[in-house]
Amino acid sequence: MLDLLSNMRRTHTCCELCKEDIGKEVVLMGWVLRRRDHGGVIFVDLRDKNGITQVVFNPEVDKDIHLKAHVIRNEFVLGVRGKVAPRPEGMINSSLVTGEIEVMVTELKILNQAQTPPFMIEDNVDVSDNIKLQHRHLDLRRPALQNNMIMRHKAGALVREYLNTSDFLDIETPFLTRSTPEGARDYLVPSRVNPGQFYALPQSPQIFKQLLMISGYDRYYQIVRCFRDEDLRADRQPEFTQIDMEMSFVGEEDIMAVAEGMMKKLFKELLQVDLETPFPRLDYAEAVGRYGLDKPDTRFGLELKDVSDIMKDSGFKVFASVVEKGGVVKALNAKGCTGFSRKEIDDLADFVAIYKAKGLAWIKVKEDSWQSPIAKFFSDDEKAALTERIDMAPGDLIFFVADQPKVTNEALGHLRNHLAKRLELIDPKEFNFLWVTHFPMFEWDEGDKRFEALHHPFTSPLEADFEMLESDPGAVRSRAYDMVLNGFEIGGGSIRIHQAELQKKIFGILGMTPETYEEKFGFLLSALDSGAPPHGGIAFGFDRLIMLLCGETSIRDVIAFPKTQKASCLLTSAPSSAAKAQLDELSLRVKAAKTE
Ligand code: AMO
Ligand code: AMP
Repeated sequence: MLDLLSNMRRTHTCCELCKEDIGKEVVLMGWVLRRRDHGGVIFVDLRDKNGITQVVFNPEVDKDIHLKAHVIRNEFVLGVRGKVAPRPEGMINSSLVTGEIEVMVTELKILNQAQTPPFMIEDNVDVSDNIKLQHRHLDLRRPALQNNMIMRHKAGALVREYLNTSDFLDIETPFLTRSTPEGARDYLVPSRVNPGQFYALPQSPQIFKQLLMISGYDRYYQIVRCFRDEDLRADRQPEFTQIDMEMSFVGEEDIMAVAEGMMKKLFKELLQVDLETPFPRLDYAEAVGRYGLDKPDTRFGLELKDVSDIMKDSGFKVFASVVEKGGVVKALNAKGCTGFSRKEIDDLADFVAIYKAKGLAWIKVKEDSWQSPIAKFFSDDEKAALTERIDMAPGDLIFFVADQPKVTNEALGHLRNHLAKRLELIDPKEFNFLWVTHFPMFEWDEGDKRFEALHHPFTSPLEADFEMLESDPGAVRSRAYDMVLNGFEIGGGSIRIHQAELQKKIFGILGMTPETYEEKFGFLLSALDSGAPPHGGIAFGFDRLIMLLCGETSIRDVIAFPKTQKASCLLTSAPSSAAKAQLDELSLRVKAAKTE
């Protein structure tokens, strides 16, 4: 039989006790992390969300309680009353906050038993992620995850405090809504009362927050769940949280200042790190040119060098023909890496192939010669120009990719990050923020043969580029900006279009007919025509931000109940099939599931 709590009341948590408490009677409650039986004396590490305290069952203190303690197993839930005592000489555990004391138990309540857990509830335990996700309620007892949840809570509270005192209103927006175009697939929800019709879960509150500006709520925020059916990665989940905000009568600088102030407060109060503001601004074209990616990690150099002009008439026909067809040849100098083996270089060629690069040419710079499969094609002038441009010195290993700009930049941009990790060029304690600005308005979709919005269709074009909207849409820059931290896009936003005419024009460039945009966005166009103020905003990926604050590498570690790569919840076995009666009610029929 288990004990009842009855009149036992917790006096302390498992991290609170120290030398000053010696002699006090205390009551602790928590879970058994481990039990050790040392020749008659039983030691239990009792754990709660705050920490661990060693409690001791000594037959000399109380024979009956010591006897009772024999049934205790890992993860049992205990209530213990006892006296705080100093640990004996040599038994002090300096890695524990409570390591100088222990509690000599005089009353024990076994509040619940537990099956043997499928894994030890400790950090760095060697067990597959799937097993842990299946038993997430147990994994969440781990100190590292508990600290992450605490950090997440604190960050949310600080964000609210900052925005509440900056005149922002927290306003909720619907989850059952129409499709919001953020570039991913929608999660659809069938409507029972409107057979054959569907809501879409919001990919973001984008349109609603713009409508709120039109309604006059000139500073809005929300910490809000968003839903996107997209391919998952370490920094992507199908449902994730945004710190979403929007402001009226503002320009880019106003929004950036609010966002920088928020980061400054978070990093100061959570990590005691002083961030210098304003953060550096980098034009999109420059970011991609120098780092290959629009979310550069600027904690290390290793910048890309464009050598297209040097290679345009090269004897290495691959390079010359790429340049002739409008492509680029770019290089990366891995300083001091001539020691890489053939196999290591081949592996890197496989790595860049993921990003569609057709090859990875290389040169090893030796004391008085170059070792390379392609150097024999270069003239002396070309060699001299390369040496200068790429800053080649003995010991260096130079990599080249030649392709259309998008492929070259992406491949070398990712190779740059990959090499920096491998060569340990990154100081993990550093936080490098920057803004990437002036993204292109549109991106050409080769498959659909039409332009797509690079941010979203409500982003304003840069006024200086208005003229090119008709003649050369691909060259038009937008008023969009991203906040980047250590190579992660942690936030993105823009100044919006606030005039219906311009919005219609942009819909048109995106290939929508007036019938289509009236059907999809008629409500927005009509709102824009009813006195819309100039406005803009931004949304932060809250999970990504917490991941970086916690020093984690996956957002799964900062989400209480995350989903797997296949978007399923292993704990509850969601998604699952629906009963026929439920489907009938929704007027749905499921095609036979594909078997693979
Ligand atoms: P965007 O689509 O750039 O902009 O999203 C804003 C930020 O949300 C985070 N994020 C994600 N985090 C985890 N999992 C995902 N699947 C995921 N997708 C995005 C990123 C990103 O920077 N409405 C606009 C914002 C605006 O214009 O104000 C929007 O949603 O950190
Ligand atoms: P090949 O003449 O095709 O054997 O290529 C010689 C070297 O150039 C190999 O190391 C290839 O990986 C590399 N290479 C081939 N195509 C490209 C390209 N588009 N960009 C960079 N390197 C390439």
